[in-house]
Amino acid sequence: MTQTILHIDASARRTGSATRDLSERVVRHLNAGRIIRRDLASPLPLITEDWIAANFTPADQRDVVQQDVLSLSDELVSELQKADTIVIGLPIYNFSVPAAFKAWIDLVARAGLTFAYSEEGPKGLLDGKRAILAVASGGTAVGSEIDFATTYARHVLGFIGIHDVEVIAADRMALDPETTLSNAQKAVTELAA
Ligand SMILES: Cc1cc2nc3c(=O)[nH]c(=O)nc-3n(C[C@H](O)[C@H](O)[C@H](O)COP(=O)(O)O)c2cc1C
Repeated sequence: MTQTILHIDASARRTGSATRDLSERVVRHLNAGRIIRRDLASPLPLITEDWIAANFTPADQRDVVQQDVLSLSDELVSELQKADTIVIGLPIYNFSVPAAFKAWIDLVARAGLTFAYSEEGPKGLLDGKRAILAVASGGTAVGSEIDFATTYARHVLGFIGIHDVEVIAADRMALDPETTLSNAQKAVTELAA
């Protein structure tokens, strides 16, 4: 069956971006039949009071204005639902994820669509998907206690049901960029297709 990749980039830099270079390498390595592109350097809107009210109105009771308010969020959820693999270029900004990525999360974490409340607590609804994070940082070590980016991304992807999350890290680039980049590029070639 044809594999579909959702390729997301969260770096604000369109040139000279390590995470864009790595995410592109991952996508090429996986060689999927179909690629859906979502570049967060073209920023998504933040959620608003109207958006929240529309989201918490049952789908069959939303008026046309509320349906319209949710249409971009519906489209982003649909991109996720169609994807077998989600590849995310994710720089560390101020010890966490870029605000552009958080805006995407706020638009795709939708009760009834990507997670559901149950007696045992919330349950992710996006089953059977894989995510690959292509991360870069200047000085923060990925996996360290001040890396709130990969820990957060892993947690929130798990929350919507994506538990298979791999991290390709070009971290601490300020120290030895050549070595960290070449290690990350090698890790891409070792990813299971
Ligand atoms: C706004 C901003 C905040 C940053 N904050 C951090 C940080 O907290 N820790 C860190 O190690 N690097 C930080 N960096 C460095 C980036 O993570 C690093 O330059 C990375 O390569 C950016 O990804 P990109 O090359 O794909 O643009 C920051 C960079 C920017 C632009």
